[in-house]
Amino acid sequence: MEIDTYANDPSRWGASLANLSELMIACLDARRAQSVVEVGAYAGDLTGVLLDWASGSGATVWAIDPSPQPKLIRLDEERSDLELVRDTSLEALKSIPIPDAAIIDGDHNYYTVSEELRLIGERAPGADVPLLMFHDVCWPHGRRDDYFAPAQIPVDYRQPMARDGGGLVPGEPGTRPGGLPYPRAAATEGGARNGVLTAVEDFVAGREGLRLAVVPAFFGFGVVWHRDAPWADAVAEVIGPWDRNPVLERLEANRVFHVAAAHAQLVRASRSEALLRRLLESSAFSLAERLSRLRKRAGVAPEQSAVSKDAVRRALSE
Ligand SMILES: C[S@@+](CC[C@H](N)C(=O)[O-])C[C@H]1O[C@@H](n2cnc3c(N)ncnc32)[C@H](O)[C@@H]1O
Repeated sequence: MEIDTYANDPSRWGASLANLSELMIACLDARRAQSVVEVGAYAGDLTGVLLDWASGSGATVWAIDPSPQPKLIRLDEERSDLELVRDTSLEALKSIPIPDAAIIDGDHNYYTVSEELRLIGERAPGADVPLLMFHDVCWPHGRRDDYFAPAQIPVDYRQPMARDGGGLVPGEPGTRPGGLPYPRAAATEGGARNGVLTAVEDFVAGREGLRLAVVPAFFGFGVVWHRDAPWADAVAEVIGPWDRNPVLERLEANRVFHVAAAHAQLVRASRSEALLRRLLESSAFSLAERLSRLRKRAGVAPEQSAVSKDAVRRALSE
């Protein structure tokens, strides 16, 4: 299986669930799944992995996405074993066949995830609940809503949103300029009815017999299953060693720190670049450059290097 986890992730945040492919496939195999639904498939990075897996087992793959990227649309045209539903999860999950496994990675907020789970749970109660897998159960969306289309979320469920472009930084419950840009994220992390993990935990707490594992890697991978399902032990065996593993927790905390720090650095660098470009066009700076040259020639402050546009151009080209 060839996996290109950065094909649609130019900043290399590790944004796709494809980064967790081996673990997810092991769970699907443990479940002996014959059908899987991916809610939120974007450009099809994970969908391609699922199709490769399904070609070995004869399983069917469904992808639900109201705004599929061109690459996913092409994949759908090329592959007769993929069913792409161009609709929101809350519409599609009312009518598509209940799958053996569902991967929830669409709109990352409490209301949507809770409703997705309610729809699945009503159609497959008790131990019949599919194997459920989730992305973004750790930072930043585990405890902080993000809204793909805020108008689709009932006002009572919508957290106040960040007004400043939503700069998210690990350890900062509010927002900060230069943080990771999530312009439709909740202004504050934490509290009731906020975030993907909160929705999953509330679903698990509201039903008998459900188990939850959280793998703290690549923004968090959650797995929920019913302990009375015939395949429960097989899934528990796969996922158990990864569940809230402290070494992984430390690795992920370190990783998201550096993702955010690299982004902040990029923001600072682009601000400096913009300032230098303005200097190059500034008549005041042209005057300063001439004055600096005259001072140099006159031997004033010989230890100082002359102000020059060439130096600014060199800095920009670097
Ligand atoms: C993070 S991306 C999915 C990435 C993909 N699962 C992967 O791992 O490569 C989220 C996707 O969810 C879709 N989406 C947003 N709201 C949705 C909804 N209500 N139902 C289904 N998909 C939704 C977006 O169009 C977007 O393509």
